[in-house]
Amino acid sequence: MRRVTLTQFLIEQQRAGRITADLRLLIEVVARAVKAISVNVSKGALAGILGEAGTDNVQGEAQKKLDVIANEILLQANEWGGHLAAMASEEVEEVHHIPFDYPKGGYLLLFDPLDGSSNIDVNVSVGTIFSVLRHDKEAGEATEQSFLQPGTSQAAAGYALYGPSTLLVLTVGSGVHGFTLDREMGSFVYTTPFMTVPEETQEYAINASNQRFWEPPVQRYVEELQQGKTGPRGKDFNMRWVASMVADVHRILTRGGIFMYPMDEKCRDKGGKLRLMYEANPMAMLIEQAGGAATTGRKRIMALQPERLHQRVPVILGSKQEVERVTAYHQEG
Ligand code: AHG
Ligand code: MN
Ligand code: MN
Ligand code: MN
Repeated sequence: MRRVTLTQFLIEQQRAGRITADLRLLIEVVARAVKAISVNVSKGALAGILGEAGTDNVQGEAQKKLDVIANEILLQANEWGGHLAAMASEEVEEVHHIPFDYPKGGYLLLFDPLDGSSNIDVNVSVGTIFSVLRHDKEAGEATEQSFLQPGTSQAAAGYALYGPSTLLVLTVGSGVHGFTLDREMGSFVYTTPFMTVPEETQEYAINASNQRFWEPPVQRYVEELQQGKTGPRGKDFNMRWVASMVADVHRILTRGGIFMYPMDEKCRDKGGKLRLMYEANPMAMLIEQAGGAATTGRKRIMALQPERLHQRVPVILGSKQEVERVTAYHQEG
């Protein structure tokens, strides 16, 4: 079998006019950073990278050592390539500007360096999520305002999953494509072309410990799933919750399902739990590109006009029919 690498895939995308040379370079650099993060993740206690960093991020979360390391790796790898106007990260309060001695480019990169922090110390899958937006160089230096573009403006989105194998899942707006890291060769091999989310499913993902805080439409939807064969859905549903969004979304891209971190009384003040710009939007683009849907329960996620870099939103995504059903319950209620 002919092995196609990420590099070859990207060159072919460029030849087909789907991406610019700069976007190709940008994705290559992100992939290189992901390899470095993967090495650190897989060393675990041997590299002394487990545990708390002893600091808090802008979200008020205690940072893990690996949150900080992954953030540094991504920032440093992407600073000097000349393809970026600026970066933004879950772990950095303000926009990260490109140092003055490096050339600037026409793209903005946003990332969640390490997704699923609570799983690091227990050796469960974690990930990295990224989103790419365009920046008009004529408009001058990038500011927070430059980043506040709806998800529909994303030029590319993807995630890395550090599981039993390390995967890179990517969209540049023409389908969702999966690559597996060949650790010996040090290259990503194109293993899963055109990933799709099956329309129907019998699997759902939600943190059920928050049940008492959910709104009535989510209560109703989950209750119906739990009634199984004898309820209105006429079939049994299974539940999964890894608590690493990357792993939960990857399962949905692989075999379908619905993922919910909905609005609830616990996170209402903040607007939701997950972050719009570097968690919800890139995942929504991937899921839509794979034939699924992604809403807040009330609106399509990618159509939201962001107001802040670290803005939070409710997230309901996955198999189209299920997302449409929960969204309809919100509209009825
Ligand atoms: P992060 O580790 O980047 O802060 O994100 C954690 C997120 C997401 O990955 C996951 O779906 C969710 O938090 C889990 O939340 P609970 O611990 O409330 O289940
Ligand atoms: Mn975090
Ligand atoms: Mn996250
Ligand atoms: Mn994170």
